[in-house]
Amino acid sequence: MINDLHSRFSDIAGHMKRSAIRELLKLTQQPDIISFAGGLPSPESFPVKELEGIMVKVLQESGPQSLQYGTTEGDVRLRKLLIERYRKEGLDLSLENLVISTASQQGLDLISKIFLNPGDVVICGSPSYLGGISAFNSYGARLIGIPFDRDGMRTDELFSVLKELKENGKTPKFIYVIPDFQNPAGITATGARRKEILELAHEFDTLILEDSPYREIRFEGEPQPMMQALDDSWHVITLGTFSKIFVPGFRIGWVVAHKDIIDKFVMAKQTADLCTPVFLQKVAAEYLVSGHFEKNLRKIVDSYREKRDLMIDGFRKYMPEGVTWTEPEGGLFLFMELPSWMKAEKLLRKAIIHKVAFVAGNVFFSDNGGQNTIRINFSYASKEENIEGVQRLAEVIREEMEHHRG
Ligand SMILES: Cc1ncc(COP(=O)(O)O)c(C=O)c1O
Repeated sequence: MINDLHSRFSDIAGHMKRSAIRELLKLTQQPDIISFAGGLPSPESFPVKELEGIMVKVLQESGPQSLQYGTTEGDVRLRKLLIERYRKEGLDLSLENLVISTASQQGLDLISKIFLNPGDVVICGSPSYLGGISAFNSYGARLIGIPFDRDGMRTDELFSVLKELKENGKTPKFIYVIPDFQNPAGITATGARRKEILELAHEFDTLILEDSPYREIRFEGEPQPMMQALDDSWHVITLGTFSKIFVPGFRIGWVVAHKDIIDKFVMAKQTADLCTPVFLQKVAAEYLVSGHFEKNLRKIVDSYREKRDLMIDGFRKYMPEGVTWTEPEGGLFLFMELPSWMKAEKLLRKAIIHKVAFVAGNVFFSDNGGQNTIRINFSYASKEENIEGVQRLAEVIREEMEHHRG
């Protein structure tokens, strides 16, 4: 083994941490654990049969080409189809405004790479998506978390932070927003709140990174406008992905932004992976035009709605007093608040003994907050497991309360 290996790693490698969630997922893969931990779509939602036919078609029609390297920008047909879909959202994009990424996690990484110097400020939600926090941290960013109310990220707090930064001569590189069914909190920003955040971005001359993997998984209520659609001055960079509305295993996402940002992104992507797998992009494009996509998406939404309802019914029935939770209008997660003295990490150790798992919410806070919160995924487990898991979880919480009372 080479001497002093750790002293040889780069500063960036020094900032890297293993994802607490990925580590936890290993544990929850034990067959008898009911896992509410990962952000995994339901395997029942994967269109295996339909894809069989589509893959054969792509191989027959464009075999060698689909197995070749492709352009870094991505498959033109797929990009055009995505642009077409965005028209319904009120966006008028050209090809130069959209690049395919190897799912949105690559979007987060490469946007960080092209914008962040060590010490740069990024504003995010408190809590926020761990994979985003980790990406920004790995480039040495300083994260400032903004709390939420029911309408989204609190703009009074955001204003104070932006003002204070300005007084100290600092402009954050971007504000990281997950406006639809936020991961982990399950909160959706109202249209008015989105406008306010955008106005602040304009006033303080900073960018917004809009990350919206759950947007199309809406169970009820009116869709709120995309932040990208509310803006006419390219202050917004939007990340999209097929992971939750098609399949995560294809690793296909995209970035929508001003052409100069896309141009830089393409350069960064060239050193990351040259291109996103061409075959999978072609299969995704064919899947979109086949009509299966919309049909399957409706199935996904119906199934997750049913799972959410089952879970919330279970909480109402079994959870002891003093426990509250968000009731999201879509997405994959809800967020639970335990009594303030209860430590979710400690609870998790007991929950695993009772064969139920979740994510302790503190990992989603950049400032060590949220010790008494937990994130619960309702999409992955089956309906029967959801019902059983809720009862196990309620029992662990009740035991912890009894123990506390002594
Ligand atoms: C808010 C958010 N952004 C990005 C991702 C990454 O998704 P993917 O890389 O699969 O597109 C996730 C995954 O759960 C997420 O919740």
